[in-house]
Amino acid sequence: MPKVTYIAQDGAATDVDAASGATVMESALDNDIDGIVALCGGGCSCSTCHVYIDEAWVETVGPRHDDEEFTLECAIDVRENSRLSCQIEVTEELDGLIVHLPAEQAD
Ligand code: FES
Repeated sequence: MPKVTYIAQDGAATDVDAASGATVMESALDNDIDGIVALCGGGCSCSTCHVYIDEAWVETVGPRHDDEEFTLECAIDVRENSRLSCQIEVTEELDGLIVHLPAEQAD
């Protein structure tokens, strides 16, 4: 099982084992990670699953797609490494992925 590390605003890191085929958002919810709301349930329409991809992983994770870009306009404090975690499937290639949680999610 690939591991994903979620780093909170206070620097606290939580490692989780992601289920096969799960997204970064689903893995967060399954493991009670605070800071991922996911109001739309993964439909790429709410932006409340916003995360920052650790700089070391940006290239491997890859770019946002067009729908994601549009939805991210509603997120708070969007940066170059912002992604919607519901749009990232955790594959073996992403074993060890590190994501940072934002200070707040949009309403
Ligand atoms: Fe709503 Fe990701 S869960 S955009």
